[in-house]
Amino acid sequence: MTQTRKRVLSGVQPSGKLHLGNYFGAIRQHIALQDEMQCFYFIADYHALTTLEEATRRRLPPPSPPQGGGGRGGIKPADRAETLRENTLDVALDYLALGLDPDKAVFFRQSDVPEVVELAWIFSTVTNMGLLERAVSYKEKVEKGIDASVGLFYYPVLMAADILIYRSHLVPVGKDQVQHIEMTQDIAGKFNRTYGDIFPIPDYRLDKEAKVPGIDGQKMSKSYNNTIDIFAEGKPLEKRVKSIVTDSTPPEAPKEPDRCNLFALYSLFATEEEKAALAARYRAGGVKYGDVKMMLLDKINAHFGPFRERRKQLAAHPEQVEAILQRGAQRARAEARQTMTLVRQAVGMRSASVG
Ligand code: TRP
Repeated sequence: MTQTRKRVLSGVQPSGKLHLGNYFGAIRQHIALQDEMQCFYFIADYHALTTLEEATRRRLPPPSPPQGGGGRGGIKPADRAETLRENTLDVALDYLALGLDPDKAVFFRQSDVPEVVELAWIFSTVTNMGLLERAVSYKEKVEKGIDASVGLFYYPVLMAADILIYRSHLVPVGKDQVQHIEMTQDIAGKFNRTYGDIFPIPDYRLDKEAKVPGIDGQKMSKSYNNTIDIFAEGKPLEKRVKSIVTDSTPPEAPKEPDRCNLFALYSLFATEEEKAALAARYRAGGVKYGDVKMMLLDKINAHFGPFRERRKQLAAHPEQVEAILQRGAQRARAEARQTMTLVRQAVGMRSASVG
């Protein structure tokens, strides 16, 4: 293998506006890694098709008179496609505004490298049903009411293809994705034993555990509708911050900072000294939650303010964003084609896809 630097890869689903949980759980480490290693980051639009229905419902306000009949009522086919396009552009803008440098990292749209779907098919023939049936994320999604499509079930196989087609070594992800990476390791091992050693076995990397509660105190997540979006600003942001749930102890009562969501959120932005100072005020009593909310709001504004300007400039030129994604896709596709030549040879097909 001639690669000198370790290759890092990760995918982000375009499933709606990115929020503080995404930022502190993944985006921040993705961007930091671009200076250390060779990074491939992509927008997982093939994957997003498995939950496009839910994403479309989140994007569009519900039709006003509640309609009887089919579960898909109210959504037009064009709305779904528009959701995918808009969410894809949103992720691209968010990452670029937050500092992803397309000269350092290869940044692209998953579906611009369709070879990955071919590899996923080949992988599916060495993947046992039992392996996929153990996928917790699939089961959770079905429990939440998402249609149990074959695509949703097959999701981890496509993810293995994403990772392995670029022969990646390291996958920085959040905790919820660890099982998928372990499945990728299984699939890579099985393929290598079946057809010969082609794939390095990738490893995952968890960001140092950041606790990011949503405004209701549960884990911040789009599906709980409790997020604070990275690029929220002005009144809507203020409203969100003010609606963070706190307990009902009166201001003068001493409070335990480690049990307070608001404190956890503030801590994400604060220095060690600021954290210690606020913790001391909590314990001494006399803290008004309303004041802490304003401190948090200031922190969010100070941290993301400069990125908001960048995002607005980029959003005014979607064609430049598209050009960046195309440039990334070209580099990614060249890699993918090399891998597919090896794979097609290994399984006994004509090594066609090159050229
Ligand atoms: N499943 C990942 C998520 O929801 C997104 C993803 C798709 C991904 N393909 C990937 C992440 C490959 C890492 C590597 O967050």
